[in-house]
This record gives sequence, structure tokens and C-alpha cells, in this order.
Amino acid sequence: TVANSTNIFWHECPVGKLDRQKLINQRGCVVWITGLSGSGKSTLACSLGRELHSRGNLSYILDGDNLRHGLNMDLGFKAEDRTENIRRVGEVSKLFADAGVICIASLISPYRKDRDACRAMLPDGSFIEVFMNMPLEVCEERDSKGLYKLARAGKIKGFTGIDDPYEPPLNCEIELQLDNGICPTPLAMAGQVASYLEDKG
Ligand code: PPS
Repeated sequence: TVANSTNIFWHECPVGKLDRQKLINQRGCVVWITGLSGSGKSTLACSLGRELHSRGNLSYILDGDNLRHGLNMDLGFKAEDRTENIRRVGEVSKLFADAGVICIASLISPYRKDRDACRAMLPDGSFIEVFMNMPLEVCEERDSKGLYKLARAGKIKGFTGIDDPYEPPLNCEIELQLDNGICPTPLAMAGQVASYLEDKG
């Protein structure tokens, strides 16, 4: 995207990212959780937030559903709205990471090019893509919000996985899936992601 405004300048401040990192003793990054509606993204985000907190790490959750109540309340679910949704959240998570925070972004983010654009905004190694690879049937069976039922009845148009595409990641850092048909607990999945972050420093 190219800026629409002209005559704008970039200001550098004397206190930088490294100073902030030293102050809170951690490196900021973005954990980007992608997957179908009902795949468990928000549950994992909360568990991970709790796990990181207990390990003494500062994190903050950006949840797609929640952000659509405020920052992104002007956006719907057309392809260009979803793309703008992801771009905005990518930019915000970049700010959090720059502030030294572990930013947990949890959005369907169905289009690969949009997720890749967010990855490209961040320094190498700072974008950790976590794919909640739950089969559509499992998500639909859960249907905790009753949205799949409405989508199947044609009462919601353009629902991800039903009549709107979901493009799975090709090279994500972490893929979470069923284990012999059983979904690992949120605590186990959060532990896996937190350990990955710890291993990478
Ligand atoms: S996206 O695709 O990344 O822009 O979506 P996101 O901002 O994560 O919002 C997803 C939540 O919006 C609800 N919802 C829909 N999802 C998919 N398709 C359509 N048409 C739709 N309409 C409403 C739904 O509650 C999603 O929440 P999750 O937590 O993913 O189930």
C-alpha cells in the first residue's frame, strides 16, 4: 500500500526499540494465529496470554472479533474488507512488537497474501505464524456461535470455509492439529507455542 498523503516526514526518537527491550527484558514479536472460525484461535490466544504472563512475559491479544467492535467496526467480510482488516492489525501488531510486547493476533486471516504482507512488515524471525489446522467438520460440529448453521442455511453469505475461501499457510512456524482425532488441550497448545518462543529467545 502506498501512503495517500504527501509532505509527510518520519521522526526518530532518542529512546529506541533496544532501550525498551532492555527495560522490560524481552524482545517483542508477533504470534499470528490463523484458522477457520471455531478452530480455537481465541481460546489458544487466551491460554497463551496466561502462559506467557505466568512465565513473566508481557503480551497483548489482538482478537479479530473484538477489534471489529472498535478499530475495524467500519469493515465487513468482503475480500477487500478482510484484506484491510488484516493490514490494519498487521500494522498495530508491528507497533506492539516494536514496543517490546509479545503481540498475539488471532484472526481468521483467510488469504495467504495478506498474512504474508504482515510477515513482510516485521524483522526476520519476529512473525510467528501459528496455523490452527482443524478440519472444517470439527469446527462446524462445534459451531459455538451458531454461524455455520446460518451460513449453511444461506442466511450469512461469504462465510469462510463454506462459500468463502480459506488458504492454509505453506510455511508456518507452528501447525496445531488433531492428535488421533482428539484436539490437544488449549494448555498443551499454549505450552508448545510458549516453548517455541523461549527456544528462539
Ligand atoms: S477475517 O476474515 O480475518 O477478516 O475475520 P476476523 O476479523 O478474524 O473475524 C472473524 C469473526 O467474525 C465472525 N464472522 C465471520 N467469520 C467469517 N466469515 C464471515 N462471513 C463472518 N461473519 C461474521 C465470526 O464470529 C468470526 O469469529 P471466529 O472467532 O473466527 O469464530
